[in-house]
Amino acid sequence: MPLENEKKLIMKVEHLSLQYDGSNGAAEVEALSDVNLDIYEGDFICALGPSGCGKTSLLNVMAGLLKATGGSVTMNGSPVRGLNPDRAVVFQNPTLYPWLSVAENVAFGPRVQSAPAGEIKEKVQRYLQLVGLEDFADVKPYELSGGMRQRAALARALINEPGMILLDEPFGALDAFTRESMQALLRRIWKESRPTIFLITHDVDEALTLGDRVVTMSVRPGRIIMEEDIDFTFRISDSDEDVRYSQDYISVRKKILSLVGHGR
Ligand SMILES: Nc1ncnc2c1ncn2[C@@H]1O[C@H](COP(=O)(O)OP(=O)(O)OP(=O)(O)O)[C@@H](O)[C@H]1O
Ligand SMILES: [Mg+2]
Repeated sequence: MPLENEKKLIMKVEHLSLQYDGSNGAAEVEALSDVNLDIYEGDFICALGPSGCGKTSLLNVMAGLLKATGGSVTMNGSPVRGLNPDRAVVFQNPTLYPWLSVAENVAFGPRVQSAPAGEIKEKVQRYLQLVGLEDFADVKPYELSGGMRQRAALARALINEPGMILLDEPFGALDAFTRESMQALLRRIWKESRPTIFLITHDVDEALTLGDRVVTMSVRPGRIIMEEDIDFTFRISDSDEDVRYSQDYISVRKKILSLVGHGR
């Protein structure tokens, strides 16, 4: 795959380790050990691993919310430190401002960046439309369903056109039907504008049908024990073939499940 080398490197995670120091009476925990990952522009990486293996910890270090104890994370060549609008984070439970309307929540980033009012209005409209919330611009988050709240959170992340979007089990709290429609939405957005995405999930099928690369982590202290390029997300819309029943899908799925289940 010579093209791989021509893509722009966005984030580099090198020999990353993380130890929670056990302050405030908590136990000392070695959460991550020697994690290495290269993320290129337009990648859609899905990370899987057993519960408690350090996925959220890794995402928090990549987001700049948490400081590593060893190794480094760089984005576009500079060390990742603190929150930055170039890295959007979407959590399992969307953190919308309850006193702001949906449109005002989505407008938050551009407002902080002091973008001109006309531009903000146009962008908010465009991103609300993208996630199918154009008719809910003026309502408050509590008037929305869980799936709609997550769509608003997605629009609020996308509107900043971040260099990278980090999502931590974004659809984990949704019912199966809503989850599937959110997955379809994210797949469409990714195919249309190719943002760089790092998504954590505990759902193997979600990982395999969304990402173009899947990484599997070991039990704690989390390390990456498998990294594989996949193309199922492209085959889902390219043909009527139900990829989940294809032989290659079943075999990657099996491999991941045996790795994640191993050592439990
Ligand atoms: N703030 C903290 N202080 C101390 N230990 C922590 C802290 N946060 C997480 N841990 C520990 O670090 C380990 C990894 O936690 P983390 O939340 O990263 O796992 P995870 O892979 O996201 O799990 P899950 O799939 O259940 O969300 C766990 O053993 C957890 O108890
Ligand atoms: Mg987690």
